[in-house]
Amino acid sequence: MIYKKLFLTGICVVALNYCLAGCKPEVSSETKKGLFTAFENKFLIGVAMNAAQIKGEDSVGDSLIINNFNSISPENCMKSENIQPAEGEFNFSLADKYVNFGLSHNMFIIGHTLIWHSQIPKWFFVDANGNRVTRDVLIERMHKHINTVVSRYKGKVKGWDVVNEAINDDGSYRESPFYQIIGKDYIKLAFQFAKEADPDAELYYNDYSMSLEGKRKGVVAMVKELQSQGIKISGIGMQGHLGMDNVSLSEFEKSLIAYSELGVNVMITEMDLSVLPSPWSVTGANVSDSVAYNEMMNPYVNGVPAEKIIEWENIYTAYFKLFLKYHEKISRVTLWGLSDKDSWKNEWPIKGRTDYPLLFDRNCKPKAVVDKITGLTDSK
Ligand code: GLA
Repeated sequence: MIYKKLFLTGICVVALNYCLAGCKPEVSSETKKGLFTAFENKFLIGVAMNAAQIKGEDSVGDSLIINNFNSISPENCMKSENIQPAEGEFNFSLADKYVNFGLSHNMFIIGHTLIWHSQIPKWFFVDANGNRVTRDVLIERMHKHINTVVSRYKGKVKGWDVVNEAINDDGSYRESPFYQIIGKDYIKLAFQFAKEADPDAELYYNDYSMSLEGKRKGVVAMVKELQSQGIKISGIGMQGHLGMDNVSLSEFEKSLIAYSELGVNVMITEMDLSVLPSPWSVTGANVSDSVAYNEMMNPYVNGVPAEKIIEWENIYTAYFKLFLKYHEKISRVTLWGLSDKDSWKNEWPIKGRTDYPLLFDRNCKPKAVVDKITGLTDSK
């Protein structure tokens, strides 16, 4: 009787969830194996959560996340523009919910990101008159920001992207306001402040295009310098925003090796594989050019041709094979979003396109590629 009651309650809850959810009701959320079960003992499998998922407004999405991922990253809610929109005014409401979600489902919770030149509020670099702040003031602001945020989630957030995107593709330091005002020491200071606030948290450097030779050399040199100064750095995040027209598994592999040789964990922190053409690899295409050009750059509004899907699946599978080959060096692989409808790639670098970069489709249905990549571990 009690089981029957539970069963019926279950059906009602599922039905209600479907009604409230952002995804369509008729879809199945089943994969042959949950993603994280398939990669157990290899690496964590993470996903970036958006605001609707964190608030419980996408219950189908939430249940997929719970069943498939054992690590979460906050897509936006912990970025400085959201968490400290005005000086000294911290807004933790969404970040608290995010952390509570991870705690209640026993997940490895990532904090993203403490020091980044982007999605940062304007006040951070200027005084009341709009003039650039001094080095000392900026260091104090960094300290207060990092200390307040990291201390709040001490022992709960297990790993922090401490510094994001500080190195250019050619290996030089990005001339961000942090760099211009403080110099490259801002990176060292950020790691020191994070460690001071939570000595047990893992601390990461995170960046995109990490397979490029120039960036690889720059990041390796920077990390070596930090290590020689006794700075704690636990891992390097290769974001992994990938495109089909610039696949270079061998360069990716070289970077995996180079970063792991530094004695730190390597993580794929923001993986997605766009199916759309990149404006930068098309001759004569300037992203800011014309709106008419967008149509050509948005070829799959009504679906992706079968042969393109196969090509896309093969690339995803090849990357996961590579991750498995280096699983002893890789601690986590995180997807930058759950389903295609959630992906930032629909809006970047050209707004309003229809992209298909993730493992779950617009109806939150697992794509065929999920069984392909989870199947890779079957014989191991
Ligand atoms: C970078 C950031 C992420 C996110 C993506 C695009 O990779 O690290 O937080 O903003 O860009 O969504």
